[in-house]
Amino acid sequence: MKHTLRFGEKFLWGAATASYQIEGGIENNDWAEAAREGRVPACGQACDHYNRYESDFNNAQKLAHNCHRISLEWARIEPKEGEFDMAEVTHYKNVINALKVRGLEPFVTLWHFTQPLWFSNDGGFENSKSVKRFERYVEFVTKEILDEVTYIQTINEPLVWAGNGYVRGFWPPFKKSLFTHRKVVKNLIKAHKAAYYAAKKIRPDLQISIAKNNIYFEATNFNPLNYFKAWISSYWWNRKFLNKTERELDFIGLNYYMYSQHGNKKILPVSDMGWDIYPRGIYHVLLELGQYKKPIYITENGLADADDTQRKDFIIEHLFQIHKAMEEGVNVRGYFYWSLLDNYEWAHGFEKRFGLIAVDFVTQERRIRPSALIYKNICEMNALEIEL
Ligand code: FCB
Repeated sequence: MKHTLRFGEKFLWGAATASYQIEGGIENNDWAEAAREGRVPACGQACDHYNRYESDFNNAQKLAHNCHRISLEWARIEPKEGEFDMAEVTHYKNVINALKVRGLEPFVTLWHFTQPLWFSNDGGFENSKSVKRFERYVEFVTKEILDEVTYIQTINEPLVWAGNGYVRGFWPPFKKSLFTHRKVVKNLIKAHKAAYYAAKKIRPDLQISIAKNNIYFEATNFNPLNYFKAWISSYWWNRKFLNKTERELDFIGLNYYMYSQHGNKKILPVSDMGWDIYPRGIYHVLLELGQYKKPIYITENGLADADDTQRKDFIIEHLFQIHKAMEEGVNVRGYFYWSLLDNYEWAHGFEKRFGLIAVDFVTQERRIRPSALIYKNICEMNALEIEL
């Protein structure tokens, strides 16, 4: 039988992006420097979104989205310490306005992994001055860029960034030191808090959060040790950072991609990234987040799927699980598919295709994938129609 699962009134439907991954032409940040040193793939013109944002937003509008997540490139706005580029301020104001006139509620991330070179060259978030530096940047953008914006996220995935840059060592600054990792995470917590109060002072109505990557840690085999390991992992990865910043979060931004098993490993379908596809995980992660009693926006969820054979079911099955969590009282208010466009997937370069819209990186041609039209239908109906 066909069932219609309705999402809440004013539910937000859209897609997420990040500046460095799509804009193109950014040479003054730590990732561009790492590319020049041959340590990560070059980003070059990416999707040339810096020049094509209006037509990209036309596509989002055509796909019936009513919100959109972008990030500001700190290195463009503050290319030298304390010196702000007013042409870039105008650019981002135009970008935000272009979203608003198309009925796309902007969610703006202020820092999504990439750092201005002056900042990274002086220790980045290892340096205790980073807290004041980040606060000054956030104060500036709140005054100069964000006056038409309601929702912001100060930091994207602090633990993913710190883990890849300071433990696994495959993202800038390519370090492997638990000691430095600890210091950096502490500074990120301080930086978020300082930024939160600085922004609230200027705009008390601003809704501020971070984007938090949470993983579903499952325990199997009815083995108490597995349950203990899953609980510890979940405390350490999912809740610790949130516990420390709880008072400075007006909502929770959840990025969900991963599932991890303590005990027997399930054989699951995988995406082009090799990541397990386990939609039920988002249900558990949402129930865990429900304990914070805050509105939740899923600010990223998606998969790399170049031939678009898995994306449709991926979206439907995740939304089914999200709806289930909502029925059990979790206050989910929006869903942003990652990503609107194929883009620069960090150390993997351009090969992994996450987009609702395919991008030809030679001609910059866009092609709407079939799964994007299925998602469009869901956005339009504000509901999921499903055979049960
Ligand atoms: C998240 C990042 C985002 C993108 C997706 C696939 O961890 O926030 O930039 O790379 O993964």
